Amino acid sequence: MARTADILVVGGGVIGCAIAYELAKAGLAVTLVERGTPGCEASSAGAGMLAPQAESSAPSPRLALGLASKALYADLALELRERTGLDIEYETGGNLHCFLDEGDEAVGRAACAWQREAGLKAELLSRADALGLEPDISAEIRGALFFPEDHWVNNPRLVTALAGAAAQEGVRFVTGEVAAFLRAGDRITGGQVGEDRIRAAVVVLAAGAWSGQLAATAGLRLPVGPVRGQIVCLEGIPRRHRHLLHVGDHYLVPRVNGEILIGASVEWAGFAKQVTAEYVRSALDAAIRLAPALARLPVKATWAGFRPWAPDELPVIGPWPGLEGLVVATGHFRNGILWAPITARLIRELLVDHAPSLDLTPFRPDRFAK
Ligand code: GLY
Repeated sequence: MARTADILVVGGGVIGCAIAYELAKAGLAVTLVERGTPGCEASSAGAGMLAPQAESSAPSPRLALGLASKALYADLALELRERTGLDIEYETGGNLHCFLDEGDEAVGRAACAWQREAGLKAELLSRADALGLEPDISAEIRGALFFPEDHWVNNPRLVTALAGAAAQEGVRFVTGEVAAFLRAGDRITGGQVGEDRIRAAVVVLAAGAWSGQLAATAGLRLPVGPVRGQIVCLEGIPRRHRHLLHVGDHYLVPRVNGEILIGASVEWAGFAKQVTAEYVRSALDAAIRLAPALARLPVKATWAGFRPWAPDELPVIGPWPGLEGLVVATGHFRNGILWAPITARLIRELLVDHAPSLDLTPFRPDRFAK
């Protein structure tokens, strides 16, 4: 059977759902194809950090994208609550990077200096001030770098809310797998889903870690593939921790219900969705060294997911040059939750207003073509 839509969004993660919602609000007829439930892959496996400052090492397009997207979250949280009744738990407590040794402290001081120079809020805290913010932290720490404007959300709820709001706006959700793009010369015309052909004026490729495989079905080189992240979830006490915490390569994210998510590994392990003893040990060692009281909490769950990674670790956002009908929104790697609202806005600005508000040159889909 052949069906048609203005827009076919391939992938129902946070990026696909945010784009579908945004385009439907702009009046377009959108079909979204997802083989599982919306957000069932990386979007739910992440920890929900909205931490552009913690995740940047210099002023850069990635930092600009992160700051622009974070600025959209307060309104998005209200809008989603009004439309769906779901609270995405947008938390604004800030982010403490704790120093356990001289090396951590030197890195923290340098980060504080460039961020302040760039006009961002960052503060160096003494041990006593850091313990004043988070009393469970070990007195072993030397101090901390505090980013008061890094935030977080409950990411599984965010995707559920975006999918619900998109459905209310008329987005048609199809459960299935786009096995291949339909291509006619220099035009992508839709996707093959089982026996069905879904034709659309524009196909938006938002298939996360699977995007590279799908692009290849149309003869396109898009080296976006999986980087595994593992998380350990403790059953904690609601509101005991009010900040994101970082220690070394690990972060701790407190959820409103008391859960503490400790993450995350960064592993090139293909699509092997495993939680390893080695990673669980390292996550728990780091967390317990930072906050010894965590040792008594039950381990509630562990999981792994696949971040969509591109070789330069920048997202891939924009139309495919020289090819009609294909727009790409993938490769969000460690920042899919953070970058979702700005990605949706940019795709809407591209397709509806024909004037993206940020320069998309660093994110061009064909930058790996050679
Ligand atoms: N943004 C955190 C992570 O990818 O682990």
